[in-house]
Amino acid sequence: MIEILEAIQKSAIRIKNAIDVKDIGYSQEQNSSGETQLQLDIQSDLIIEEELSCVAGIHTIASEEKELPMVLNESGRIFVAFDPLDGSSLVDVNLSVGSIFGIYEGAFTGKKLIAACYVVYGPRVELVFAHEGKVKLYLLQDGEFEYVKQIHLEPKGKIMAPGGTQQFWAPYHKAMIDSFFATGYRLRYSGGMVPDLHQILLKGGGLFSYPGAADKPEGKLRQLFEVFPFALIFEMAGGQAMDGKIRVLDKTTAHVHDTSPCFFGSSYEIAVVLDVYGRN
Ligand code: F6P
Repeated sequence: MIEILEAIQKSAIRIKNAIDVKDIGYSQEQNSSGETQLQLDIQSDLIIEEELSCVAGIHTIASEEKELPMVLNESGRIFVAFDPLDGSSLVDVNLSVGSIFGIYEGAFTGKKLIAACYVVYGPRVELVFAHEGKVKLYLLQDGEFEYVKQIHLEPKGKIMAPGGTQQFWAPYHKAMIDSFFATGYRLRYSGGMVPDLHQILLKGGGLFSYPGAADKPEGKLRQLFEVFPFALIFEMAGGQAMDGKIRVLDKTTAHVHDTSPCFFGSSYEIAVVLDVYGRN
């Protein structure tokens, strides 16, 4: 596991350097020297693939950027699914973005997820790693990730991050979100899953939701690359992750790009979600 974490750390430093190149994001065709330039998400994908390929224990990788998984080493037992640069269009407007990693043992399914990690590229670069029941925060300083602290959620938070297009929400979902705001929750939604969930984790709690809705009945967020890794992180931090009715990590995955409605939060907010969705 340590080798995988080190490969993720090396990737994160290289991706941060790629983000910092001044003309990436503004022009996706050419850089200032007139050279053809890869889009930042494709570039991030290649960086991670290269770093993970050096870890002998990895059997297969699957990227949000690629249609199919790629076998690296038949004798490995670890499967890694990753979203190389989630919310990459936010780079163009200088908001935070992130990389997400799910580390599975033997198969790409929620029940086999053994560790999860994400990196936030914001004013600072931070990395959160969940494994063996603990969620640890690291900060990139002078080229190295330094351990900062363990992350724990409070039983109830104050932040609301409601994803999806309101026009297509079910009436009971809208009523539930309105009721949270009516009791003092504050809106915190950037449109980047990584910084939005990072804020909830570091501020002690709240609710991030991306429901099934009329335009997207199975939600938008991908199980293997986005939903499952954050589900493990929330559970290990003392929170919960549900699809409205069941634990997302108990869901089955038929295809690597399957999506799922999802709710990540502290126990109070998730109890409200289960009550509302249980009655609808
Ligand atoms: O999956 C990509 C993503 O950008 C997530 O990072 C984010 O939470 C979500 O989509 C935002 O979607 P929407 O704009 O529909 O709320």
